Amino acid sequence: MLVTAGPTREPVDPVRFISNPSSGRMGVAVAAAAVRRGHDVVLIAGPMNVPPPDQARCVRVTTAQEMLAAVERELHASDALIMTAAVADFRPKQVSEHKLHKQEMPARLELERNPDILATVAARKGDRLFVGFAAETQDIVENARRKLAAKRLDLIVANDVSRPDSGFGTDTNRVIFLAADTEPEHLPLLSKKQVAERILDWIEQRATRARG
Ligand code: CTP
Repeated sequence: MLVTAGPTREPVDPVRFISNPSSGRMGVAVAAAAVRRGHDVVLIAGPMNVPPPDQARCVRVTTAQEMLAAVERELHASDALIMTAAVADFRPKQVSEHKLHKQEMPARLELERNPDILATVAARKGDRLFVGFAAETQDIVENARRKLAAKRLDLIVANDVSRPDSGFGTDTNRVIFLAADTEPEHLPLLSKKQVAERILDWIEQRATRARG
């Protein structure tokens, strides 16, 4: 199982970056649960606040482009890709090799789009299961459904990151499971560990069904 976790970090100069508050806890919980169930796990991790599980092979990356390269490298050997990472959608167009002093700092940072990792590897999906996350603050089900289709996902786990008990940096998550062929499933407030177990239950049931 290939799991991504944490934020990506997009440098402006050696001492500044653009990023987001993802802690990596959800991805580490998924990787740890998969290890406990006997799966071989590769965890591709951005700069997280938590340690990776011992038995997973951990590939450390910083930027979205590095995360894409690592996913492309590791995908062929995997049966499932679980993208919990909060990938930065934009990066600074110019990256300074030296620290920019106040006087040199432009008033506006010019940004360019990062690649969409899931969309980029969608063509190589084959019969792998792809699970994505949708961090939303409004119209959660509608937005998650759009991402489910656009990124050719089997399952999207949507969460309302504006709630204090859900999303970035919390120990708990209140999520909705959305798959193309079933009604949205609203899960109760659960620990990230419990959400991870529910995701693996879903993947294992789906894989068993596919094997007939
Ligand atoms: N994702 C990705 N590559 C990106 C951005 C996101 O693979 N450049 C993945 C995330 O890991 C997540 C899913 O896509 O599993 C949805 O991420 P999200 O940030 O919610 O959506 P976006 O695609 O960024 O869409 P929007 O900007 O409309 O919210």
